[in-house]
Amino acid sequence: MKKLKVAEMFAGVGGFRIGLENTENHMFEIIWANQWEPSRLVQHAYDCYTHNFSTGIHSNEDITKVTNYEMANTNVDIIVGGFPCQDYSVARSLSGELGIQGKKGVLFWEIARYIQHVAPKYILLENVDRLLKSPASQRGRDFAVMLSTLNELGYDIEWRVINAADYGNAQKRRRIFIFGYRRENQYAKSIFKKSAENIVFKDGFFAKAFPITNEIYKNRISTVKLSEDIVDISDNFSYTFHPSGFMRNGEIYTAHTVPRYETPVTLGEILEDEVDDQYYLSEEKVEKFKYLRGPKKIERTTKDGHKYTFSEGGMSETDALDSPARTMLTSESSINRSTHLIKDEKGYRTLTPVEAERLNGFPDNWTDTMPDKMRFFCMGNALVVPLITRMGNEIENIEMQYTDESTQLKLF
Ligand SMILES: C[S@@+](CC[C@H](N)C(=O)[O-])C[C@H]1O[C@@H](n2cnc3c(N)ncnc32)[C@H](O)[C@@H]1O
Repeated sequence: MKKLKVAEMFAGVGGFRIGLENTENHMFEIIWANQWEPSRLVQHAYDCYTHNFSTGIHSNEDITKVTNYEMANTNVDIIVGGFPCQDYSVARSLSGELGIQGKKGVLFWEIARYIQHVAPKYILLENVDRLLKSPASQRGRDFAVMLSTLNELGYDIEWRVINAADYGNAQKRRRIFIFGYRRENQYAKSIFKKSAENIVFKDGFFAKAFPITNEIYKNRISTVKLSEDIVDISDNFSYTFHPSGFMRNGEIYTAHTVPRYETPVTLGEILEDEVDDQYYLSEEKVEKFKYLRGPKKIERTTKDGHKYTFSEGGMSETDALDSPARTMLTSESSINRSTHLIKDEKGYRTLTPVEAERLNGFPDNWTDTMPDKMRFFCMGNALVVPLITRMGNEIENIEMQYTDESTQLKLF
C-alpha cells in the first residue's frame, strides 16, 4: 500500500509516531524526526526515541538551526508535532517591505518554515487548549496569527479541543488538535462543497474521528473573517474561539460542541499489580501531600508591600480510582498539589513510571532508558497516543478516498 511520509517535529519520546504506526492500514512512515531539549547536556527524550525506533533520520538539533535545505530535502506528505504555547505576535520588519517578523525563539515559526519549504499535503499539530485564549490581554490573538499564517501558506484548517477521557482514555487531558490540508487537494475540493457547519458537526476530519452531538453548548457559535494583514491581526484582533472550528480562506466558523462521550478507562484500571516499595510515601510526605491538597488561606505580601490573602479550595485526599486520572504535568515526580496520590492496601504512594506511561497510552517501559524523574517529565510533555491513532485512521480514510496524483508541490 502507498505510504505517507511523515516528519515529526518536537518529537519528544515519539507519541505521534507510536500513534501513527498503530493505524489500521499502516500507511505512515516516519522518515524524519527532530527532538532537542534546550540547555540539557543529556538528551533523554532523544535517546529514548532512538532506542525505540530504528528507521528514518533522527535529528537532535535545535530546530531553529535545521537548514531550509535539510527540511526541503525530506519531501514529506505530512508534518506532525506538539509545540509550546508562546507569544505569536508579529511586527512589520524594520527593513520595510520585506515581510513580517515574529518574536525570536517562537517555535511555531519553525513549523511555518518547514511547511513553506515542503508544502506537505497535511499537517497535524497539538498544543495546550490555552492557545485558543492567549494572550490574556488580547484573547485569541495568538491562534488568529497562527490561522492567518497557515491560510497564507495555502491550508484550510480544522481544530478541536479534545479531552482524552471523553473518548475512552484513562486521563482527563485537554489539548487542542489542529488539522490542515492543502487547498488544492482532492479532499479539500470535495469538502469545499460542504458548509462550515456541516464540516464541524458531521463530515469534517474531527467530526468523523471524534463524534459529537448536534447540540451547541450555551448557543456558543460565531463566525469571523480574518484581516488579510497579519500585523493588523497581531495588533488588534481579539475574539473568543470555541473548542471546535473550521477556517477556509480566512473565514472562520467556531462552535462549542459536545462530545459523544465514550466510557473511559479509570485510574484504578491502569494501576500495576505489584508496586516497588520506593513509590510508597513516608508519613511525613503523606502529611505534606495532605496539606498541599487541603483548603487554605494564606496571608501574602507582594514585592511592593501590598498584603493579600491567597486562598485555594480543597481537593479529595487521594485520587479517585473509579474515574479517569487528572491531567499529568511535567512536575509529576515532585511533591506538589497536582501530583497524583494513590491509596492502596499497602499505603499511600505516587504513580509508578509505567502507570504514567499507561495514562498516555504508551507501551509499558517505553521510557525506561532514563531516570524516573525524567520519565515523569517526558510523560507530562507527551500526548495521549490512542487519540493520534484515531486521527491517523481518519487520514488513511481520506487517502483511500481521494488520491492525488502528485503529493508535493514542486517548490524547487
Ligand atoms: C510538548 S513536547 C512534545 C512531546 C511529544 N509529542 C511526545 O509525545 O513526547 C515538545 C518537545 O519539543 C522539544 N523542543 C523544545 N525546544 C526545541 C527546539 N528548539 N528544537 C527542537 N525541539 C525542541 C522539547 O524537548 C519537547 O520534547
